[in-house]
Amino acid sequence: MNVQPRRVEHLETDKGSVPVYTTAVVEQPWSSYARSDHETWATLFKRQQQILVDRACSEFIENQQKFGMSPDAIPKFDELNRVLSKATGWELIGVEGLLPELTFFDHLANRRFPVTWWIRRPDQIDYISEPDLFHDLFGHVPLLLNSLFADYMQAYGAGGVKAHGVNPEALVNLTRLYWYTVEFGLIKQADGLRIYGSGIVSSKGESIYSLESPAPNRIGFDLTRIMRTRYRIDTYQKTYFVIDSFEQLMRATEPDFTPYYGELAALESIPAGSVLPNDLVYQRGSGEGWAKDGDV
Ligand code: PHE
Ligand code: CO
Repeated sequence: MNVQPRRVEHLETDKGSVPVYTTAVVEQPWSSYARSDHETWATLFKRQQQILVDRACSEFIENQQKFGMSPDAIPKFDELNRVLSKATGWELIGVEGLLPELTFFDHLANRRFPVTWWIRRPDQIDYISEPDLFHDLFGHVPLLLNSLFADYMQAYGAGGVKAHGVNPEALVNLTRLYWYTVEFGLIKQADGLRIYGSGIVSSKGESIYSLESPAPNRIGFDLTRIMRTRYRIDTYQKTYFVIDSFEQLMRATEPDFTPYYGELAALESIPAGSVLPNDLVYQRGSGEGWAKDGDV
C-alpha cells in the first residue's frame, strides 16, 4: 500500500473544492515509500527524460543532470539539498501538499522550496490535479540550480509577502505571473522555442502540445499583460508566454509592483485565449479543441 498524506480537508473556493493540508514542514518518509511508488517515479522519469530532449531549455537539462537524479529510486531530499545548498543556497523542505499563499511566499522569500513528499498513484500517471512529488521534484527543482532563476523565485516570494498586505487583486495578478512563467513558461533559445515551466515539463501531453500544437497562442512575455490574463487549471493552456532569457524575466520584475497593482485594478482581465493588438505573436492559435468557459 502507498503511504498517504496525513491530513486533508477541503475548502470551498471560487475555484471549486481545494484540498488543504497541514502547513507543517515534514521529514521525507523515504523508507516508507512502497515499491510501487518507486516504480511510478521510474516510469514518469524515463518517459519525461525522453520527451524533453530538444524540448526543455538547456538550463533545465543541464541542471537536472547535475543533481544526478535517476529512474532507479525516488531521490532523497537530503542528497539533493547537498548539491543545491552549495550552488544557490536553496533548500528543499518536505510538505503534505499545496500550501496557503502566505506560507508558500514566506518559504520562497527565504529560499526554501516546498516539495510534496508523496507521489501520485499508478492510475494518476498521466494526470493529477494537484502537485505531487513528481511535479515538484522533477519539474521545479532543476532550475533552482540556475542562479538567475533562483533569485527570481526568491524575489517572487518576497513580492508575494508584500502584495499580501495590498489587496486580494494584487495576489491574483501575482498568481497569474507565476502561472505563466514558473509553471507554464516557454523560452526562446538558439534553435527554437523551449520549455522551462514546471507544469509543462512534468506533463507528457503538455510537453508536446505547448510546443507543437497549432491550437494555442504563443506570445512574447509582457509583464502587465500577463498579470491581467486569466488561465486554465483543468486543460492545457490556451496561451503560452515566451521569454527571451531569464535575464529578461529578472529585469522586467525588478521594479516595485505597488504602482502596477493600482493601475491594473482599473483594467478588465483578459480571457485566457485572447490575442491583443500589441502582442508579439509567435503563433496565433487555431483555438481547436478549446473549452468554451472555465478560465479562472
Ligand atoms: N518586484 C516585485 C515587487 O516589488 C517582486 C517580484 C519579483 C514579483 C519577481 C514577482 C517576481 O512586488
Ligand atoms: Co508547480
